[in-house]
Amino acid sequence: MTGIAMLGAGFIGQMHAQSFLSAAMSRGSDRVNPELDVLIELPQNSDLAREVAGRYGFRQVVLDGWADTLARDGIDLFVNAGPNSAHLAPTVAAADAGKHVFCEKPLARTADEAYRLWKAVDASGVTHMCAFLHRFVPALRHARNMVHAGELGEILHYRSQFLLDMHEPDGSLSWRFSRADAGGGATGDLGSHHIDVARFIVGEVEEVCASTRTWLKNPDGSADNINDDSFSAIGRLDNGALATIEASRVPAGHALTGRIEIDGTKGTLAFSMLRMNELVFTEPGKGPRTIAITLGTHPYGRFFLPVGIQGAHSIGWRDCFVFQAHHMLQAIEHGAPVGPDGATFEDGYRVAEVVDTILRAAESRAFEKVTYRS
Ligand SMILES: NC(=O)c1ccc[n+]([C@@H]2O[C@H](COP(=O)([O-])OP(=O)(O)OC[C@H]3O[C@@H](n4cnc5c(N)ncnc54)[C@H](O)[C@@H]3O)[C@@H](O)[C@H]2O)c1
Repeated sequence: MTGIAMLGAGFIGQMHAQSFLSAAMSRGSDRVNPELDVLIELPQNSDLAREVAGRYGFRQVVLDGWADTLARDGIDLFVNAGPNSAHLAPTVAAADAGKHVFCEKPLARTADEAYRLWKAVDASGVTHMCAFLHRFVPALRHARNMVHAGELGEILHYRSQFLLDMHEPDGSLSWRFSRADAGGGATGDLGSHHIDVARFIVGEVEEVCASTRTWLKNPDGSADNINDDSFSAIGRLDNGALATIEASRVPAGHALTGRIEIDGTKGTLAFSMLRMNELVFTEPGKGPRTIAITLGTHPYGRFFLPVGIQGAHSIGWRDCFVFQAHHMLQAIEHGAPVGPDGATFEDGYRVAEVVDTILRAAESRAFEKVTYRS
């Protein structure tokens, strides 16, 4: 049994709550037993907290701070689904109390903060995972298997775009638009996902140059403290591949565009988040071939249902959260490793270092080397 305390009943906290419940319904022999114990929220969000707790069956809602809660007996795992500014202190406190920790991405607002978080948690000896969800998209897992098996040959290019319109309908700016509260904007919020995919499938980022833009304004017309709305970066990966990574949260025509392409000497793989059960593989002299990642032999193909005469059905974004939750629980309950399939806090730190280097390069208008601390 894994007793769970979760901070944050917002968008992603709700995703995690339903995912932990569903993770218990996997078909494999590696069964897991999560128990939603405590939901921690701010007092001003008490209605939301109670509604979410009731919906998913949390035993208790805590509204007067996390400090007295995290060390309690019966809590084995702390899930941090709070805003980026609330990632460091409670996660370190939970790890210091001997609780395993699962923290949303980006791991922290800056590389310095992410480094402190990784080092403190690692020193405590608990199991840690950062929620880079793309690692649990079966098509991207399959893409990684193909790349690592040499089916694309030597990798030449990694190319990605993450574009979505994040304007609030009422024009307000939430915490994620604030440099002080969130750290990077499009870089930290969206870019961090695709930077991690580059590292997961191809290789570590060694140097970058970049440009950023901010169009949004505060109600007083200034842009003070608003982080980047968009960025485009060119990078070099440690295997010599050239990476181009672009993200933006302001294009009105993009509800959710997530494209990733990998070119190798033997062929090109293309993935689109809107067709997340497919990979398009193009080899020299052949037209594009769509591979449906829905077979029982594909990653997570047999997780929910038997695959056989009933066919092989597609999966969705929510399912990937279940795979991620199951991975975290499996690490705790069965001693399975978090990496390399899941992202550890070291991965979270390394991505934060790339994000900071992109922002630095946008200022210096020059190539900047990414310097990783050990
Ligand atoms: N993996 C993904 O695809 C994905 C998608 C969206 C968001 N996220 C990440 O999830 C995190 C949360 O994002 P969100 O969209 O759910 O935000 P949100 O604003 O919807 O929810 C955050 C919640 O945390 C609560 N909170 C803030 N400070 C708190 C504190 N000190 N104690 C208790 N509760 C507190 C807020 O009241 C709010 O309800 C961010 O780090 C974000 O980057 C990840």
